[in-house]
Amino acid sequence: PNLSTCHSTSTSETFHLPNRSTHVVKCCPASPDSGKPIIDFQFPSPSTSPLRIRRPAHRLALDEEYQAKYNKAVAMMKQLPSDHPHSFHRQAQIHCLYCNGAYYQAATTDVPFMIHGNWLFFPFHRFYVYFHERILGKLIGDDTFALPYWNYDSPDGMPIPDIYMKGELHNEKRDGRHLPPAPVGIDFTPDKVDLSNEPAAEQIAANLALLYNQMVSGATKPELFMGCALRPGKDGACSGMGTIEAAPHNTVHLWVGDIEAPEYEDMGTLYAAARDPVFYAHHANLDRLWVLWRRLNGYDKSQPEFDDPQWLDSHFYFYDENADLVRVKVRDAIDMDRLRYAYEEVDLPWLDARP
Ligand code: C2O
Repeated sequence: PNLSTCHSTSTSETFHLPNRSTHVVKCCPASPDSGKPIIDFQFPSPSTSPLRIRRPAHRLALDEEYQAKYNKAVAMMKQLPSDHPHSFHRQAQIHCLYCNGAYYQAATTDVPFMIHGNWLFFPFHRFYVYFHERILGKLIGDDTFALPYWNYDSPDGMPIPDIYMKGELHNEKRDGRHLPPAPVGIDFTPDKVDLSNEPAAEQIAANLALLYNQMVSGATKPELFMGCALRPGKDGACSGMGTIEAAPHNTVHLWVGDIEAPEYEDMGTLYAAARDPVFYAHHANLDRLWVLWRRLNGYDKSQPEFDDPQWLDSHFYFYDENADLVRVKVRDAIDMDRLRYAYEEVDLPWLDARP
């Protein structure tokens, strides 16, 4: 994107729900940057950066020490002046900037830069979560701090994780029918009759079968899994989200969001989604599903899905934990090991859920 093109935008670029109101939304930073130069991304050094291990959120329910750390870090984020790049508010606004088209593409003055519905979806969100995690760790002086992942691809992990039901991680704007112990509806659509009335065992089976489809039978090629090839310029638009972006990504957003809020806030609309702390656990899990898909399909760790410079050189800007503005490229996202985080392994029951 071209950062100097930041402009007010509309909330309509969301999950394309019918009959929802929209409003103008301003998510650009109040003051342009500090004047510090933009720096190109550098990988953390393996000798000085401990590996951060992301664990399943539902297994942290009894880990008081972890919860205290995570709550403290989020509380510190919330206390920063709202225009500080590390503030909880600015962290959430990143989603509005990139997901509601507040920037134009680098070489244009009128084509919005969008990272949903195309092959930028996984790399963009990988970096979003990556920097968010490092900022949280920095605030509490812990360079091993890792976000949890919402392990809704395991039956025990399907409800909203308990740690997100209290303290700094709780959020008011969620669908009251979908609070624990209700298992998530990976097949949820807002116009379907109340899924929370479906017996849990049936919902769990439906979730696993759909995951099998999204990860395996429906995702046999990178274009199906990753999303369509977005090209620059007006003629470069494409439409076609990958299997995982459609579900569980969109469906879990809508399942969590408050269906009674004007625009389905927070999780059910892109401009507000990252105001709910559970957003980051949702995206950590999607990131993990990307890792698993690559493994199932035999990718080498640094092998890109598309050997295409228009993809690999696409870039995004994030503030890092030192509040430097960093330019990251899609090619920097491919090899997760170089980013110094990993996912704790769990069973994959959906692999046996071939319908
Ligand atoms: Cu940019 Cu879950 O969305």
